[in-house]
Amino acid sequence: ADVHHYEFFVRESNFTKLCNTTTLLVVNDSYPGPEIRVHRGDTVYVNVHNQGDYGFTIHWHGVKQPRNPWSDGPEFVTQCPIQPGTNFTYEVILSDEIGTLWWHAHSDWTRGSVQGAFVILPAENETYPFPTPDADQTIILQSWYNGDYKQIIDEALATGTSPRQPDAYAISGHLGDTYGCPNDTIFRMQVDYEKTYLLRIINAAMNEEKFFAIVNHNLTVVAQDASYVQRFTSDYLLISPGQTMDVLVYANQNIGQYYMATRPFSDSAAPPIDNITTGVFYYTNSVGGLNASLITLPAINDANASNNFVSQIRNANVTQNPPLKVPTDIDRRVYIAIATNNLPCNTSECLNSVRFAASLNNVSFLFPRIDILQAYYNRSTNGVFTEDFPLEPPVFYDFTGNLTVLGRAADEGTRAVVLNYGEAVEIVLQATELGAGGSHPIHLHGFSFYRVGTGFGNFNNVTDPSSYNLVDPPLINTVHVPRRGWAAVRFFANNPGVWFMHCHFERHSSWGMDTVFIVRNGTTAETSILPPPPGMPRCPGT
Ligand code: C2O
Ligand code: CU
Repeated sequence: ADVHHYEFFVRESNFTKLCNTTTLLVVNDSYPGPEIRVHRGDTVYVNVHNQGDYGFTIHWHGVKQPRNPWSDGPEFVTQCPIQPGTNFTYEVILSDEIGTLWWHAHSDWTRGSVQGAFVILPAENETYPFPTPDADQTIILQSWYNGDYKQIIDEALATGTSPRQPDAYAISGHLGDTYGCPNDTIFRMQVDYEKTYLLRIINAAMNEEKFFAIVNHNLTVVAQDASYVQRFTSDYLLISPGQTMDVLVYANQNIGQYYMATRPFSDSAAPPIDNITTGVFYYTNSVGGLNASLITLPAINDANASNNFVSQIRNANVTQNPPLKVPTDIDRRVYIAIATNNLPCNTSECLNSVRFAASLNNVSFLFPRIDILQAYYNRSTNGVFTEDFPLEPPVFYDFTGNLTVLGRAADEGTRAVVLNYGEAVEIVLQATELGAGGSHPIHLHGFSFYRVGTGFGNFNNVTDPSSYNLVDPPLINTVHVPRRGWAAVRFFANNPGVWFMHCHFERHSSWGMDTVFIVRNGTTAETSILPPPPGMPRCPGT
């Protein structure tokens, strides 16, 4: 395995979109930022220089970082922010990840502009488990705001209101030709007739699940969240924020130019704006204009299209799933109810007497002033966090639509779940009808988990486990929990550390739809957290 070094200079740069010039905090003056490209099992050092005006951190989304939570990144969970004028070198340790991941800022909404692809090629002596593609292409789905991402969430939190909708969506920094502003360029991917391309698609949008399609071309899914899946072909994809998908496309149509397009999926009562964003898939030597064929994307609220796509995903690897062989053989099941709710608001900036909030098991997560990892590692937990996250939802949760509990306030706190090293854990995530009641992409740091089951209505702990897929469940890091439904995931707690879990809708995460899993050390040095690296950022005020 190789060692790579990257330098990230993070500062404000100007970008002109929608006929407006906006200043964004970006890496190396580019939006999206530089692509990291390495091989399976490599180690990557990224020296992050903060040349901006406020502190932030960077997370390597989907990299498990074995025993090394220090470089995982979530602000006030595993580190304090890198302050302006300082730098910090992350040590990103790859293990079995293969395919596409990404990196992004993990402070407030800064990830809207501080983000990029993380491509993990097969190791030098490995090949793909499918015919080697002729070339690959990264495609990053984004939300575009006129204005600074941090400012948008800071204002919404101060006033207790919902952050405003994006002004557009983008494909790798391009807004496409549907917004009618002459400066906005369209994303173009050039292909040669009869060649095969590996698309590495990342949903980096702030609050939107996305459908994606290319006119007249089938998409063959080969990996999700840097783990191979059994190949299947579809004419559209559904990708949740935080998820990544590797997809083969064969350029076998008439030489010409074809639209690619993306639009949000949401069946929530408060959906995102329904804009289609276009790109062009064009053949070398094509003459004439774009193929005018209509883009066939499912409608924004087409839950069947969403669920049908998700249900086709199967792990390519059927043999290496020891925790799954015996359905009941788990050490613990943690039930987590997901809700948006509200809290009293009585500061002078508040526009109403209540403010938007969100919770897991009715606990709305509060970020501490010192990172949880440092406090845990130094055994000075006093006042930073408690270890009493409730392991069952409160009884007043009615998942299928008791609207009388809509106005119930959540409890605020920094409460962690503690797991013993090596435990086989199942988490049942239940989406509720509290608040707008949509679906949620729930992401866990430090692990990939097996999605063993998903369904509608209330999870039934007697009948639902018998429907689990314990043969070839996908190994992913972000699970789509359907509206009025549930998803069950399993993993071995074999990575000691402090690991954030949260909704990857940034609005929900900012409102408190987050918690922390602490995995205790094993009994040997080789199963314990590594010592902190030099130069961890100091926490403000310490
Ligand atoms: Cu994509 Cu907690 O992150
Ligand atoms: Cu959510």
